[in-house]
Amino acid sequence: MKYFIDTANLNQIKEAHDLGILDGVTTNPSLMAKEGIKGESAVNKHYQTICEIVEGGDVSAEVTTVDFKSIVKQGKKLAALAKNIVVKVPMIPDGVQAIKWFTDNGILTNCTLIFSAGKAMLAAKAGAAYVSPFIGRIDDSGWDGIELIEQISHIFTIQQIDSQILAASIRSSLHIIKCSEAGDNVCTCPLESIIGLTKHPLTDIGLAKFMEDAKKFA
Ligand code: E4P
Repeated sequence: MKYFIDTANLNQIKEAHDLGILDGVTTNPSLMAKEGIKGESAVNKHYQTICEIVEGGDVSAEVTTVDFKSIVKQGKKLAALAKNIVVKVPMIPDGVQAIKWFTDNGILTNCTLIFSAGKAMLAAKAGAAYVSPFIGRIDDSGWDGIELIEQISHIFTIQQIDSQILAASIRSSLHIIKCSEAGDNVCTCPLESIIGLTKHPLTDIGLAKFMEDAKKFA
C-alpha cells in the first residue's frame, strides 16, 4: 500500500517525507486555504514546492471549477506546473467528462468526493488514475466507509480495473489499517494518523528497559 499525506502544510509534508515512507500528497481547496495561501501565482508556487519535496511522488492539485471547459482549462495549467502533478477532479458529470479528456490527453487524474461504488466505477471507466472514497465523512454520516472500500476493491478486482483506490478522509491510524485490509491501494492520511502507527505503550516500556540495561554494559 502507498502512503500519501493529506495536507498542504509544508512542515508536515517534510516531516512525513523524512520518515522515508511517503509516496505522495493530496491537497484540496480547504487544505490550501488553511495554509493562508492567496492568489494564483502563490498557489502555483506552493504546488511546485510540494512537488519538489516529494521528489517525484504524485501530488494531487484540485481544480476549483465545475464545468467541463473550465475544469479542462484549469487542469491543463495545473498539470503544467510539475511532472508529478495529478489533477484532482470532483465526481460530477462534467468532472467525468473532463477526466476522460485528461485521460485521452495523457494527464493523470484523481477523482475526488466519491461516496458510492457507482461513482468509483464511472470515474474508473473515464480513466481516473485514482478514485478517492471519503471514508471519514461516510462514517460521520452513519454509514460504513470501510465497507465501501471493500465493495470497490471487489468490483475492481473482478472487473480487472486498473484505477487505484485512494482511501481519503482518514480520521485515525485504525482507519489506515482497516483500509489496507479492505483492499485499498493508497491511503492519504493526516500526519498524526501516520505517526500513530508507530505508537504502542509496550514499545515505550520495552525501550525504556533496554536503554536502562544498556547502561550496564556501556
Ligand atoms: C482527499 O483527498 C481529501 O483531501 C481529504 O481526504 C478530505 O478529508 P476530510 O474529510 O478530513 O476533509
